[in-house]
Amino acid sequence: MDTRGVFISLEGIDGSGKSTLARSLVDALAQKHQVLGLREPGGTVISEKIREMLLDVRNDGIIGKAEAMLYAAARCQLVEEVIRPGLDRGTIIIADRYLDSTVAYQGYGRGLDLGFLEDLNRLCTGGLKPDLTLLLDLDPQEALLRRSEEIPDRLEQEGLAFQIRIREGYLDLWDKEPERIKRLDATHSPEFLLQEALLLVEKLLAE
Ligand SMILES: Nc1ncnc2c1ncn2[C@@H]1O[C@H](COP(=O)(O)OP(=O)(O)OP(=O)(O)O)[C@@H](O)[C@H]1O
Ligand SMILES: [Mg+2]
Repeated sequence: MDTRGVFISLEGIDGSGKSTLARSLVDALAQKHQVLGLREPGGTVISEKIREMLLDVRNDGIIGKAEAMLYAAARCQLVEEVIRPGLDRGTIIIADRYLDSTVAYQGYGRGLDLGFLEDLNRLCTGGLKPDLTLLLDLDPQEALLRRSEEIPDRLEQEGLAFQIRIREGYLDLWDKEPERIKRLDATHSPEFLLQEALLLVEKLLAE
């Protein structure tokens, strides 16, 4: 029997419901499986320190490439310290953001070269891709309404046009990798989305 675990990432624009689904998915799967939920950037002591730097509103002078490389550094640490060992133990890993966020945010959002970002992603992960990516697709205007009461971090202050480009990026990625990336209509209720996600995960586990 293959004892390797399963790697699932959740993607989508700010406020699309990733963390909500990640939490419920971890809880539901934990009844029958060994599960680990992670957030990006973060998930290790070093990666959480990098996260603080990235989300700090005072760091608005950061150069796009430097920003991308900080995300990559946080991801590299997470992959080597947590994700690979977890998969080796047979754990189901649920990551709230991963590789596709870099392409969507730094590439489509900020306009960095996509080839550079793909190289960076491959280098920092050693080529480790999720087995399944759930894309929570939501109209940016709708997402903005959902989050209107929160205090925005640095990236969230960038406005609607930025989120619109990011959504386009995610949809292009979905177009290119429909086997790995499954689009979910994020206007559905959290309960409905959890059931949809569980169906996809169970299908993957049965393979
Ligand atoms: N399916 C849903 N329908 C309506 N509201 C939702 C749904 N899922 C989440 N929400 C609400 O929308 C807001 C944003 O959700 P959540 O924090 O899960 O999004 P996120 O994608 O993790 O955002 P971020 O990118 O900022 O981390 C929260 O107030 C949450 O309760
Ligand atoms: Mg979140």
